[in-house]
Amino acid sequence: YSEEEKTEDYLFKIVLIGDSAVGKSNLLARFARDEFYPNSKSTIGVEFQTQKMDINGKEIKAQIWDTAGQERFRAVTSAYYRGAVGALLVYDISRRQTFDSIGRWLNELHTHSDMNVVTILVGNKSDLKDAREVPTSEGKALAEAQGLFFMETSALDSSNVVAAFQMVVKEIY
Ligand code: GTP
Ligand code: MG
Repeated sequence: YSEEEKTEDYLFKIVLIGDSAVGKSNLLARFARDEFYPNSKSTIGVEFQTQKMDINGKEIKAQIWDTAGQERFRAVTSAYYRGAVGALLVYDISRRQTFDSIGRWLNELHTHSDMNVVTILVGNKSDLKDAREVPTSEGKALAEAQGLFFMETSALDSSNVVAAFQMVVKEIY
């Protein structure tokens, strides 16, 4: 077959980071398997899933890594970030404390990985309208100040989940 017909294999490592219970594992479950767990337990150690994506007609494999937000459940930090080209930095729009932690997560990301990791700030649980503690405008402003992409998502009702992952992968690619 000709050179054009050869399927090129792109494998991008993307990491999920953010405080415990912001919904990292459920964003991955929704994206990779279209599933949602109302009573999911804290992640222990590291899990990853490889998801095929079609970007401009090219097949791309996103290897998405998920770990615990809680320090005591986390695996070796440097190994988690090694080789990552994208990151979803997640907070919960209904818990301000998780938004206040973003600076700390950004520091960790920048300590352990390349400065040009494509990063999106994700305000998850947008379905919890009545419990919102972080206005969309604040999320946007922080993202702009830090040079990050921004999106609000809901792993529960699926809104913007695929879009958030796609935004990162498109930008890497
Ligand atoms: P750690 O593994 O401890 O770091 O937590 P995590 O960030 O992986 O959170 P997880 O996905 O386990 O979700 C925590 C809780 O939030 C679970 O009860 C989920 O069902 C719930 N949850 C996750 N995403 C959403 C969402 O978009 N909307 C609502 N309403 N609940 C969500
Ligand atoms: Mg988890």
